[in-house]
Amino acid sequence: MRRQLVAGNWKMNASSEMTGSLLTGVLENLPADRDIAVFPPFPYITQAVAETAGTPVMVGAQNVAAEESGAFTGEVSAAMLADIGCSMALVGHSERRALYGERDYDVLVKVRQLMANGITAVVCVGETIEQRKAVREESVVSEQLSLLIAELSNADWEKIIIAYEPVWAIGTGETATPEQAQAMHAFIRSELKKVSDTVAEKTRILYGGSVKAASAAELFSQPDIDGGLVGGASLDAAEFTAICRA
Ligand code: PGA
Repeated sequence: MRRQLVAGNWKMNASSEMTGSLLTGVLENLPADRDIAVFPPFPYITQAVAETAGTPVMVGAQNVAAEESGAFTGEVSAAMLADIGCSMALVGHSERRALYGERDYDVLVKVRQLMANGITAVVCVGETIEQRKAVREESVVSEQLSLLIAELSNADWEKIIIAYEPVWAIGTGETATPEQAQAMHAFIRSELKKVSDTVAEKTRILYGGSVKAASAAELFSQPDIDGGLVGGASLDAAEFTAICRA
């Protein structure tokens, strides 16, 4: 049985005060039956780790360097993330792919850095509206997963979570229908069978894209949806808590 995970991607939104108040809200309303994670911007990770110490809430980063260490001004390595108590990191978010030119190869290299440091990678995949209109959503997502499927070992997959985030649903208020999302999650799971049946069965696949409290329960009750990656709604403690408990 896969345990569901609800993760909040704060993107480039936060302050010390906001980090404190969001976490207080989350910690006061923890669900017993789901994992919860938050992904604050880098400067607030240490604070979030301290404030969630001794609780089940996990703290992740939104990005990680492809390199191990050295002269890479502005980058943050996987070893640094592990050192400050970060247990997860997003890789290949559609904003990173679209705005910072991250390619599938970069995603693989970053995943390898995370694996080497014991950090779980939440790898984001998803098609644009043009690709969906051209009925290419499956081929696009298959391509985004193909290097990982070819290169990573069964053991590596124990530290990987997939987030299916259709680009047209991110921050637009337009959520994929539960049927659209379930169909893509089932497709992704069938792709993971190329690694092994066990990996296909065990890997958690989150849905992301305008998840709100009102839409979460139906999405999360689909057989291949193992929780959500929540952007905008994770910045409102009451709304995020309602999603966590949906
Ligand atoms: P959204 O963002 O919930 O605001 O659509 C999701 C994400 O980008 O992870």
